[in-house]
Amino acid sequence: ARVLSVASEAVPLVKTGGLADVAGALPAALAGQGWDMRVLLPAYRGLADRLTGPQTIWRDADLFGGKARVLKGTLGGVMFLLLDAAHLFDRAGGPYSDAGRDHPDNAERFAALSWAAAELARGQGTDGWSPAILHAHDWQAGLAPAYLRYGPEVPVRTVMTVHNIAFQGIAPADKLAGLRLPGWTYSADRVEYFGNISTLKAGLVTADAITTVSPTYAEELRRPDYGLGLEGVIASRARDLHGILNGVDLAVWSPERDPAIIPYSAKSLKGKAENRAALAAEFGLSPADGPLAIVVSRLTDQKGIDLLAEVLPEFISAGGSLAVLGAGDPALEAAMRQAAERWPGRVGVRIGYDEALAHRMFGGGDAVLVPSRFEPCGLTQMYGLRYGTIPVVAATGGLNDTVIGATPASLSARAATGVSFHPVDKTAFAGALRQVSRLYADRSGWTSLMKRAMKAEVGWEAPAARYADLYRSLLP
Ligand code: ADP
Ligand code: GLC
Repeated sequence: ARVLSVASEAVPLVKTGGLADVAGALPAALAGQGWDMRVLLPAYRGLADRLTGPQTIWRDADLFGGKARVLKGTLGGVMFLLLDAAHLFDRAGGPYSDAGRDHPDNAERFAALSWAAAELARGQGTDGWSPAILHAHDWQAGLAPAYLRYGPEVPVRTVMTVHNIAFQGIAPADKLAGLRLPGWTYSADRVEYFGNISTLKAGLVTADAITTVSPTYAEELRRPDYGLGLEGVIASRARDLHGILNGVDLAVWSPERDPAIIPYSAKSLKGKAENRAALAAEFGLSPADGPLAIVVSRLTDQKGIDLLAEVLPEFISAGGSLAVLGAGDPALEAAMRQAAERWPGRVGVRIGYDEALAHRMFGGGDAVLVPSRFEPCGLTQMYGLRYGTIPVVAATGGLNDTVIGATPASLSARAATGVSFHPVDKTAFAGALRQVSRLYADRSGWTSLMKRAMKAEVGWEAPAARYADLYRSLLP
């Protein structure tokens, strides 16, 4: 069957975080299982040039204030549709912001993406392709199921996936008409949200099915501390809510065939030691006897980076070292830089975004730290498993579903794949790092832990099959 997936970012075209990994890899995996997938994205500056054989399949003379068209073309085996609308997307900066400031018309920009998606779902594409299912990702695509539901009925089923409920697509109520929403949709059971419009809520109340990216997060979302205001909406749709774990694109993330590192495998770990030495050199580190930990992350409150700064003194004095790659909150960037100054040779920091360096870090690190306050799924702990870079995680969301924390019982059952802590605070995190140092000191125990982690199933095959089951259950 035909599926139109709609997102604001997808690899290999544009990425700011895990959403892009999923919005790129899931359709590719589903296409491999026989689904006729297309992925609709905005044509941010320069993107249209990257499609092979682009063809125009939809035009609009006035899409939220300017001309627009949809270009179809393939890239890396996936069929992409790019919404080319210069007045909305051909501009400097990233997908959502420029120089740290949100684009002022984000509500209209992503309403336009959702509008184009709904038009294509209504069979308005000129190449005769129309989907049986429209799959919307996050608030940027939340209005797509809403436009379908609030307009003339069409036989298209819709799925809304929540990657992070903290981003809710809030717009002022007076934008209702400007966002092409009929006046009657401004009610508490539709798009109204605490006196504003929420495009994520719009998607949640109108989609036929809702998914989120881990079973634990699906449970957490019903609670105010995780639902962040949308817990009531989530609870009212509990029957249609599915927690499906993300996978990892094994073509990109496999130590056996990663061009960025010296290859290694669970059977032959020699390359890992060489990668470790290279990584230490690259960060100017001379590690002591303890583990070399890495962090590859947005530097934000969600990710618990402030806690990291607090537990470092003890970890370093116990013999640990740390390499950090990330960007985000200026105060947290500064805290990381200060740590590097305070412990030269033991803490190294790169502020920025660097995909190849991320690969070298997973190749060379002993452990990856993920102390998130909440984490819908999280991908880096799964890269850690794959690379034998032991994940040290807060027991929340997808971190809880993908890592089996070391305890006396899980170690003696040979089940542990990482270290996990709870609650998410300084004391528990510090305790987890003490445990890491202890486990690391037992070299043969640590090697078994690495081998077990590397065998954990983290590919897309199983999760894609679950999405396929869900799609099938929605089809008439
Ligand atoms: P989130 O989407 O909340 O940021 P995820 O763990 O799902 O968290 O995904 C983050 C993705 O972004 C991973 O692929 C990770 O490797 C990547 N990433 C994050 N920060 C950086 C960075 N500074 N450089 C390179 N890759 C990064
Ligand atoms: C969001 C979440 C992250 C998840 C990613 C992909 O960015 O913060 O936990 O892995 O989406 O679903």
